[in-house]
Amino acid sequence: MRILAFETTCDETSAAVLEGGRLRSNEVFSQVSLHRKYSGVVPELASRAHLEKIPFVIGGALARAGLRAPLKRGAFDAVAFSRGPGLPGALMVGRVAAEAAAELSGAPLIGVNHLEGHLLACEFAGGRACEPLKFPLVALLVSGGHTELWHARGYGDYRVLGRTRDDAAGEAFDKVAKLLGLPYPGGPEVEKAAARARGKLPDFPRPHMPGTRDFSFSGLKTAVSYYLAGRLGQDFYKRGLRLPPGERDRVCRAFQDAVTETLVKKTADTARSLGLARIAVGGGVSANGALRAAFERLQGFEVRFSERAYCSDNAAMVALCALRRLEAGKFRNSLRVAPGLADPGW
Ligand code: KG4
Ligand code: ZN
Repeated sequence: MRILAFETTCDETSAAVLEGGRLRSNEVFSQVSLHRKYSGVVPELASRAHLEKIPFVIGGALARAGLRAPLKRGAFDAVAFSRGPGLPGALMVGRVAAEAAAELSGAPLIGVNHLEGHLLACEFAGGRACEPLKFPLVALLVSGGHTELWHARGYGDYRVLGRTRDDAAGEAFDKVAKLLGLPYPGGPEVEKAAARARGKLPDFPRPHMPGTRDFSFSGLKTAVSYYLAGRLGQDFYKRGLRLPPGERDRVCRAFQDAVTETLVKKTADTARSLGLARIAVGGGVSANGALRAAFERLQGFEVRFSERAYCSDNAAMVALCALRRLEAGKFRNSLRVAPGLADPGW
């Protein structure tokens, strides 16, 4: 089974070829340098950059897989793309590319949920999808745009149990980094600074939101902002005032500890309440070493992560979702939401 896949939900343009569970290619063009000066992703710039880069990314993915354009009929058994969630203009680029490739190769087109991709990315080891997930499990999906807890009962059988009511975990990392004068994307920068922290840490709240499986990170971001205003003055950001590096590192550490503790506690509580001992963590934020270490310290749970190379957005994970769906003989997913949560319709 040979699958061509596209990923263009946010600021990575990616195409991959997966054959028999082995990755033949996974080309990723990151737009980070384009968005850095705005300290976040600018949707219109992202769409244009996807449009500009996708021909090269497709060419690269085909060449690395030993294939050539133009695509011949029968070149692929399926063509997959991330249908959402993501930036509308960016999504359209991947979808159109996938439709064209599916038409040329006469293959069925499969739209997959980007967050399912982050979950299934846990199966890759050394470029092979050789470590199948064991279901049922609780999935924590933590990216720049989303923070969700899923009850995963099998491939394509998911129930959303909770999600953030405001900022996503990655967004909180990015915004706090911006307040501290660190570059975008903030997650890796905050992690590096946190690792250097020495001495007494500031005290930030743990947004546990008791009685719900939802998350909320905007209050934590505001707590950091109040701390900075207290130390540097109300208009610190406008005046470009920054903490001394040692104190900045301690703020990063205290913030990261608060996010980590909240994510781990809510995930573990959810798994316990469902009587499940398996957890899988995916998405850009799952690259964070402190978060991984905290999950690994959890007693009584088997916790899976994706290899760091597959934590951020990539088309390999999209191809794998399509493969698992073809193996199961079904083209549509069952993604339901818990009562009271909005159904995004992916
Ligand atoms: O999944 P992803 O690549 O893109 C989206 O689907 O959004 O996630 C990107 C997010 C960014 O907010 C970035 O700051 C965060 O993941 N991130 C991290 C780390 N690496 C990336 N957050 C915390 N620690 C990291 N090491
Ligand atoms: Zn993502």
